[in-house]
Amino acid sequence: MEITKQTGLRGVVHVPGDKSISHRAVMFGALAKGTTSVTHFLEGADCLSTISCFQKMGIEIEKQNDKVLIHGKGLRGLNSPREILDAGNSGTTTRLIAGILAGQKFISELDGDASLRSRPMKRIMDPLNAMGADIRCRGENNCLPLRIVGRPLTAIHYTSPVASAQVKSCVLLAGMYADGVTSVTEPFLSRNHSEIMLRSFGADIRSEGTTVSIRPEPDLLAQDITVPGDISSAAFFIAAGLLTPGSEILLKNVGINPTRAGILKVCQDMGADITLLNADYSGEPAADILVRTSSLKGTVIQGADIPTLIDELPVIAVMAAFAGGTTVIRDAAELRVKESDRIAVMTDNLRRMGADVEETEDGMIIHGGRPLHGAVIDPRLDHRVAMSFAVAGTVCERTMDILDGDCVRISYPDFYKDLYSLG
Ligand code: S3P
Repeated sequence: MEITKQTGLRGVVHVPGDKSISHRAVMFGALAKGTTSVTHFLEGADCLSTISCFQKMGIEIEKQNDKVLIHGKGLRGLNSPREILDAGNSGTTTRLIAGILAGQKFISELDGDASLRSRPMKRIMDPLNAMGADIRCRGENNCLPLRIVGRPLTAIHYTSPVASAQVKSCVLLAGMYADGVTSVTEPFLSRNHSEIMLRSFGADIRSEGTTVSIRPEPDLLAQDITVPGDISSAAFFIAAGLLTPGSEILLKNVGINPTRAGILKVCQDMGADITLLNADYSGEPAADILVRTSSLKGTVIQGADIPTLIDELPVIAVMAAFAGGTTVIRDAAELRVKESDRIAVMTDNLRRMGADVEETEDGMIIHGGRPLHGAVIDPRLDHRVAMSFAVAGTVCERTMDILDGDCVRISYPDFYKDLYSLG
């Protein structure tokens, strides 16, 4: 994909539905009784992987006009899959489904693409094994493929070493099949979409600080769900609007759940002109986001804020490269085990553009404000890296040439179309 310099990005963008919420709508809908209807579902490759896994376990899922309908069969309604469950590129599909599969009465196997096969699964195997699950890695270094022999589970309290919504959700989902109350404490609060949605389906789930607990055997009942726009997708337009001269972009109905919206705080710290309009705080909070071109300055991003913007750090790194002064990102070692090693891949590609970036074990130090130019970018098939450099391409001199640019289909199939609609 080739991207050239733009000026005056103007218009309205309806970003696609939130990826995390779309996955959960399918999963919890499958385990509920009745038909769950999902509006503004994200039809990206990751969420389609989740649909296909549940279809292989006998759940009927259909598209009707602008809705996805999931004909749920209750907590114990899944069938033994005849084929391997293929999670594609999706860590969320793998880790959340593993929690569900651990408590079933059948054997299943989970696998994924080369990127997913290199991502750590010990983080879910440890708590699941502590619950008495029979879950084995067939890959090397505790990686996919996984073979799961479903069994009755024991309730535990799990103290997670990482602030990860995938780990937390995995344990809570397994907890629905356990013999008592299961709880998870994490070092910092990670995204709480599972808690919000499971509660709306009727689960008895309680949060206090960074601890969440769930009672077993909930009677989940089908829901009508409207998925807000994904702030992780909106982030690319926030950055493009701030960095490209003469821009004004209105992003409609974007999720601003505080456990996800850390990028807004960072933008404020960097001196961005961003206004929230029509905010609605019922259920999953959402608002329209108005972005205008701004002169940005460096900032420090660390600690409890990291989980609230973990997926936005690649595009924040791009913003930092164009900002005046230094930006320090620390406590973000999790970036190394995402769809790619995002610290190494961002550092390498930003340097190709002429940026001054230091790679650290758990982050980056970016000395912004150097003149940057287009380059051949290798996002290593990582959708968020590709979109981050597409944004950089709208700002810098010379063409940005992004290899395998179609990897954006994982989370935002129409990304380039939406970007060029503003130019
Ligand atoms: C997600 C949680 C995060 C995030 C991922 C989606 C989720 O991963 O990076 O894109 O939907 O629960 P971790 O739980 O590994 O932090």
